Amino acid sequence: MSKINIAIDGFSSCGKSTLAKELAHHLGYTYIDSGAMYRAVALYAMENGLVREGKLDKAGLLRVLDELDISFRYDDRMQRSTTWINGRNVEQEIRGMEVSRHVTLVSPVPEVRAKLVRLQKALGLRGGVVMDGRDIGTVVFPRAEVKLYMTASTEVRARRRFLELVGKGEEVDYASVLDNIRQRDEDDTRRKADPLTKAPDAIEIDNSELTAGEQFELALGHVAKAIGEAAEV
Ligand code: DC
Repeated sequence: MSKINIAIDGFSSCGKSTLAKELAHHLGYTYIDSGAMYRAVALYAMENGLVREGKLDKAGLLRVLDELDISFRYDDRMQRSTTWINGRNVEQEIRGMEVSRHVTLVSPVPEVRAKLVRLQKALGLRGGVVMDGRDIGTVVFPRAEVKLYMTASTEVRARRRFLELVGKGEEVDYASVLDNIRQRDEDDTRRKADPLTKAPDAIEIDNSELTAGEQFELALGHVAKAIGEAAEV
């Protein structure tokens, strides 16, 4: 049976990746975290001294962008996919607050988006992909059989992100996490290049009041229907 693609978009810390991973695991599909790619570019820019005092040296980034190779590798021990740049595992580094703070410097750059969207489209060519991000249903997979658009209140998202970071041993305070989420929401929706918008054919799921289990069942219902319809074609 041919496999479909599932696009999951929404604001940061909306639980997109949890849902995407669960769906991929349940269906035997591949999960791809497109945000990890933008984070990888941000880390690469920082490591190359191209971010100074909160400003990006865009011309410098464009000079080295072609040399950046981003890939995902499955880690058998951790039982999950990890992000690599130029043959180096950067999974842990890209999740920290420093990268979160600087990622919206690189994500609006059209050349960065063009490179990453090309890569993302290629990964979905044969179907069987669950990808989460901001522009997956609108730009990367405009013909995805299932498009989910996730939302939750800012406070609910900040609390989730705060607990996640504390759980990883990062020293953060709730107020700065909330600030970072507000800033990223603003950056994600206001940027000119591929801003976060709900595709007209996307199904909106507000999970502020849903448990992870309820959300999964709801999403799986839509996915099962689409797989059934794809099989009839
Ligand atoms: O999902 P995330 O928070 O890890 O994403 C990191 C940043 O990358 C976020 O600020 C928005 C940006 N992003 C994007 O512009 N387009 C995507 N498809 C995914 C993420």
